[in-house]
Amino acid sequence: MCGIVGYTGPKEAYPIVITGLKRLEYRGYDSTGVALLNDGLKVYKKKGRVAELEEAIIGKDLHSSTGIGHTRWATHGEPSDINAHPHISASGKLAMIHNGIIENYAQLKKELTNKGYKFTSETDTEVLLNFIEDIQENNQCDLLEAVRVALKRVTGAYVILLLNSATPDTIIAARKGSPLVIGVGKGEHFLGSDASPMLEYTKEVVYVNDYELAIVRPNELILKNLGNEKITPFVTKLDMELAEIEKGGYDHFMLKEIFEQPSTIHDCLRGRLDATAGTITMSGIQDNIEHFKNAKRIIIVACGTSWHAALLAEYIIEELCRIPVEVEYASEFRYRNPIINKGDIIVAISQSGETADTLVAIERAKENGAIIFGIVNVVGSSIARISNGGAYTHAGPEIGVASTKAFTGQLTVIAMMALKIAKEKNTISEERYRNLLLELEAVPEKVAAILKSAEDIKAIALKYKDAADALYLGRGYNFPIALEGALKLKEISYIHAEGYPAAEMKHGPIALVDENLPVVFIATKDSYHEKIVSNIQEIKARKGKVIAVVTEGDDIIPGMADDVFYVPAADEIIAPMLSTIPIQLLSYYVGIAKGVDVDKPRNLAKSVTVE
Ligand code: G6P
Repeated sequence: MCGIVGYTGPKEAYPIVITGLKRLEYRGYDSTGVALLNDGLKVYKKKGRVAELEEAIIGKDLHSSTGIGHTRWATHGEPSDINAHPHISASGKLAMIHNGIIENYAQLKKELTNKGYKFTSETDTEVLLNFIEDIQENNQCDLLEAVRVALKRVTGAYVILLLNSATPDTIIAARKGSPLVIGVGKGEHFLGSDASPMLEYTKEVVYVNDYELAIVRPNELILKNLGNEKITPFVTKLDMELAEIEKGGYDHFMLKEIFEQPSTIHDCLRGRLDATAGTITMSGIQDNIEHFKNAKRIIIVACGTSWHAALLAEYIIEELCRIPVEVEYASEFRYRNPIINKGDIIVAISQSGETADTLVAIERAKENGAIIFGIVNVVGSSIARISNGGAYTHAGPEIGVASTKAFTGQLTVIAMMALKIAKEKNTISEERYRNLLLELEAVPEKVAAILKSAEDIKAIALKYKDAADALYLGRGYNFPIALEGALKLKEISYIHAEGYPAAEMKHGPIALVDENLPVVFIATKDSYHEKIVSNIQEIKARKGKVIAVVTEGDDIIPGMADDVFYVPAADEIIAPMLSTIPIQLLSYYVGIAKGVDVDKPRNLAKSVTVE
């Protein structure tokens, strides 16, 4: 996590850096800092949000044409003014910001302490910075060479940006494991954790790869690898507009993103699904179709909300394609010596395409001969680039920390992918295939219809805002939605919530049920309907408050539930894409009612680039 920004060129650096930091705050927001080069180094940093730093430094000398900035999600050392980045080296000549974790920092710190170095912060960043400076002084080399030598000794993940007061127009950058984009302008360069800080200035960007170093000057971009060989920068064109990363009249990005779903799902389907012709065009699947058809199993790795999409993928792919699917938390998968055979298909699902655990998990699997298929939202991200094939979700930039439109984008891709493979494998009847294509095509319209009831959902949310706990229950295809509902509520309202398979609740959570416990049932009309009706009875018998997501026309559950959210009828495979919408709105309105900053809830970050 953490966001990094840099600028060097003829413009004033500070406004570019501070605006860029605001756009990257989703990556972490417990402290902020900038370093500016003019007549020497000026560093301003502070615990708190970007706006607080901005306010605190009004009237200071901010003039500079080369600057870097950082918004932090604390790893080593609590959020504080001292631990905030940039850090300054012992000599006072270098300033550095860092996104990632230096795993062997304790060893390096010991070596430096023995040499007499003193540290003001608790961060691994200050250790790496002084390690670099120490090498530079001992070897009498330039800064880039010192960085190169230092990074060869470092284990962990990093993007670093460095300023040197001796070279006022230069930023040195390096990456391994955390993202770095360099925007190429006319006589200027921009750096960022993603492209958002540079959107209004340039659409030409270079995605820096792992183990690459960059020397960035206004008129020059030199890329090298850790072996000191020059690399030709590969410039790609950004397909993103500024409006996509603005709130567009909504109070919060989360609400905007929830309301964007009819169009983002439509964008995801567009050009791929043709219900009239009965076709699904997905080149990432087509290119690997023999692998998918012959796959003995598929392993899906993901984290957070993306893991819930993975779980639903297991249900759908096994049902339609008859291929065994295993779903793994990436953080567990990467460390537990899993059995991976040559030709195994590993699907990575990730909104950001940068989640450290997911990225490393697929790197390991790839080394073992697996075929990596990425379902990713951020175009050009690390996971997208390392994958052998893949499909973008095309949800556009998702900025609210709680994932909404990216999740429904993932479900859309999964449904298309399963249908395409099933058709190729002949594991689905023509009638069901055609029917599911029509069902998928109708999803955007049905989502739009659900969003019209946002005010009703808000009224219900207000009734439950003071709950201490909540339970989310679902069966079958709606079980992953129950997990997702509980995650959403705890993320943005801080109400403790658990998701459970509805029947499994008898083996534990039922002990929590009393008249104060809201129990949210995801209970759309499907093959489990009668069973879930029984589970609702079990909760009612213990006086639990039942909130149910039901299919329009359901004449049983509304008579039993305390509150009901209706969604249009849909095939049970498609229904989760609908039942998740009221659940998102419920969490949003509860979070707002509780005064939580739903776009930036405490302790979380959108892009988790540390393990
Ligand atoms: C963080 C975010 C979640 C997201 C998860 C996985 O925890 O707050 O919204 O689901 O990371 O991220 P990814 O980008 O890999 O989907």
